[in-house]
Amino acid sequence: MAAMRIDRFLAECGIGSRSEVKQLLKKGLVAVNGVIAEKPERKVDPVSDCVTVSGKRLCFEPYEYVMLYKPAGCVTAARDARQKAVMEYLGPENRADAVLEPEESCFHKTDLAPVGRLDLDTEGLLLLTNDGELAHRMLAPKSHVDKTYFAKVQGCVTEEDVRAFAEGLEIGEKYPTLPAELVILNGDTCSPKERYAVGSYNKTAGEGMTYCPPKERHVLGSPNIPAAYISEVKLTIQEGKFHQVKRMFESRGKKVLYLKRISMGGVELDRLLRPGQWRRLTEEEIGQLYVSCGLPRKG
Ligand code: URA
Repeated sequence: MAAMRIDRFLAECGIGSRSEVKQLLKKGLVAVNGVIAEKPERKVDPVSDCVTVSGKRLCFEPYEYVMLYKPAGCVTAARDARQKAVMEYLGPENRADAVLEPEESCFHKTDLAPVGRLDLDTEGLLLLTNDGELAHRMLAPKSHVDKTYFAKVQGCVTEEDVRAFAEGLEIGEKYPTLPAELVILNGDTCSPKERYAVGSYNKTAGEGMTYCPPKERHVLGSPNIPAAYISEVKLTIQEGKFHQVKRMFESRGKKVLYLKRISMGGVELDRLLRPGQWRRLTEEEIGQLYVSCGLPRKG
């Protein structure tokens, strides 16, 4: 990495504004390789030089890996004229933990980009990194990186659907989808009685059934699918085609009502994160992403 002025380096590390870091330099609080540095124009190499502020070392990390709990209603983009964009959740004010906390702090580049996309109304795990090689490899179709979603689907998802997803579906692409693992979470509880209870389901419906106006029932295609029933499923796919999950269910005559990504490349959405919150990935999680796409770990 090219050498840069120490006042710029410190400012980019978030230590303070250019004038604030000049004060720190003047006070003799900054050292480079153990020698006090007072001149703001002094050049440092962020990788090879050891820079300390009040005795605390700033370590340089060229790559950053983050998981964001993307909320529904925001676009996977840096900026958008009308909608909130995911990058707005990662503004510098939310990244204060990078600065001198705890003992060793890290200088992070700020060119993060999302690894793939989630639809406007999809929520859940969105990975972001400035490690272009990893992102590219994870998104490459031949890498077959697992992406797991939790979905609520209008109608009754059946064992027949599970088999069809495993075999591959025609969703209007050149080739059928790759085999996908579909797991029904609330059981195949659509008994024949329930299937035909559509007309009076709001009187007979059990848990898991919600009101569906008669007008909308025909949308589901087959008279065998109870419009009132909401299936909960977990689906793992190895591709990332446009609206893929929604199109897979559509090809079975079913509509996705709610979609949340819960894992990607073996890294799970942290249960402690709330929509809009993010955290850095652990070393173990970063390693897991490399393994998921068959890339040797850097360094
Ligand atoms: N599949 C979809 O249909 N939408 C997403 O956001 C992700 C996968």
